[in-house]
Order: sequence, then structure tokens, then C-alpha cells
Amino acid sequence: MAADKPLLRKLAEEVLGREAASKIWKRIEVIGDIAIIRKPFDVDVDMLRPLAERLLEVLPYVNSVWVATTPVRGQKRLREYMHLAGEPRSETVYKEHGCLFALDIRRVYISPVLGYDHIRVARMVKPGEVVCNFFAGIGGYSIVISKHARPDYVISVDISSDAVRYLRLNVELNRVGHVNEVIHGDAFEVAEVMDRIDRALLPCPELSLSLFKELIAEKVVRCNGVIHAHEFVEADRKKQAVEVAYRRYLAVSKSVGIAITLESSHVVRSVGPRKWHAVLDLKVLC
Ligand SMILES: C[S@@+](CC[C@H](N)C(=O)[O-])C[C@H]1O[C@@H](n2cnc3c(N)ncnc32)[C@H](O)[C@@H]1O
Repeated sequence: MAADKPLLRKLAEEVLGREAASKIWKRIEVIGDIAIIRKPFDVDVDMLRPLAERLLEVLPYVNSVWVATTPVRGQKRLREYMHLAGEPRSETVYKEHGCLFALDIRRVYISPVLGYDHIRVARMVKPGEVVCNFFAGIGGYSIVISKHARPDYVISVDISSDAVRYLRLNVELNRVGHVNEVIHGDAFEVAEVMDRIDRALLPCPELSLSLFKELIAEKVVRCNGVIHAHEFVEADRKKQAVEVAYRRYLAVSKSVGIAITLESSHVVRSVGPRKWHAVLDLKVLC
């Protein structure tokens, strides 16, 4: 959940003064009972501590405040954090669409911005489908699908042992073990031994296109099955982002001689100046 946009700026003006406050990013990310603020590059972490103490007073549901000191990076898609105020704890339970997600912000990827896409995809899953989430993280898509749709089963793959540990815990917490299989491994290797699934989720923009190529070339996704591809693209306007992304997937599908069609799409967020995170729902044609 994203707390009120102006709140952080308002508190920063009160605690740090107007000039310093103007450097502070306006949004606070609240994950369970942990609030996260981003470190502006020219602001010292110690300067943020009184602001974090004030946040604890104002937000009664927050027990710990951290600052993210880097962007998301690396294979496990993690950020670096420093503790600012409250309990020095980075583990929490985050709620989304009636599901519970235990996680440690320092060990696994989490972005509440994907919450809308979790339920959007869950609503597309038809009863009896076999779904594979190849970059599952702590199970955002897998668990929301298991709770809100009626899949035959959901396979979740992740290369990070921390993500897999929380994913297994979250399957238990949400009592969806009967329809879930969790695999600790490399999505590319798992795809090699998989066959004729109905739906593939590729929520890792850096790897989505290359795994998409393998999935269609090896017919891992059945005829008329759907692949949810995630892509970072540069485009002047948000509307163009989807077209740019789709052209990439069309080119790859043509190179392996498999036809696809764009069923639907959406832009999850802006990830920089003229840079977007787009999601394409691609149907594999026979
Ligand atoms: C952006 S996060 C996933 C987000 C998650 N699906 C969600 O809904 O919140 C990407 C995940 O892919 C995993 N990953 C990276 N490379 C991988 C690979 N080759 N095979 C499997 N998982 C991989 C990372 O460990 C990370 O948990």
C-alpha cells in the first residue's frame, strides 16, 4: 500500500525545514508494519532519523522505519536498506487481496505496485488451468491466483533460497498447498523439462524475453495458452511503451516460427525518465 502522497513531504517540512524537505521523495512504501523511504542521493542518512521518528508517531500501524539506499539490483532483485527508527526488524507480514505474505525486505523482492497485476492475472485464469510462475519471488501471483481463481495447480520457480523459503511459508499461511508446487531452481532449466502448460508468468523484465523464446520454441506453453511477459522499454509516452514491447516479442516469435497475438496489456509503472515497465498478455497460436 502507498500511504498518502503529501504526508512524507509535509512531515519532512515540519522536521527538517522546507529546503531539505524538497529533496525527499514524496511517497512512503508501507509493507506490513514497515515503512520505507528512499534516500535522496545528496541527503545524509542520519538526517532522515528525526523524520523516521515522526513517522512512527503519526502512523500507528508502522513499527519500523527503513531507508532504501539503492535501487533494486542484482539477480535476486534486492535493494540495500538502513534501519532508521523503531524496531530493528526487517521481517513482516504484508496483506494483499486477502492473502498474507511473510517476507524480509532485505532478503526478497517486494513491490506493492505489482498488487494490481496480481489480481488482474488471477481474474484471467480459467478453472482447471496449469499455471507456471517462473520468477515467483515470495509468491505474489501464485498465491493470489490460488486464492482467487480455480487452477488445477500452480508451479512456482525461483532461484533465490530466501524467496523460496518465504514462498513455501506463504503457501502454508494461505492454506493453498493442495494446488501449489514450489521449485527452487533456475527458470531456464525448469522450463526445459516442462510440457504443455496453460499459462506462464514471467515477472522478471530482465529475463522475460529470453525465457519467452525458450517457452515458445520448445512448445512449453500449449496452443492457445497465454504468456504474461514483463518488459522494461523506453518510449516518449506511456501509450507507446506497449507497442515497443510487443514489437520485441513479435520479432522473437517470428524468428522461431511461432505465431502470437496480443490479448491485452498494461503499463505497471514508470521506472525512470521515458522508461516503463509494461506487461503483455500474449496468446500462443497454433
Ligand atoms: C521481480 S522479482 C519477482 C516478483 C514476484 N513475481 C512478485 O509478484 O512480487 C524476480 C524474481 O526472479 C528471481 N530470479 C532471477 N533470476 C532467476 C532465474 N534464472 N530463475 C528463477 N528465478 C530467478 C529472483 O530471485 C526474484 O525473486
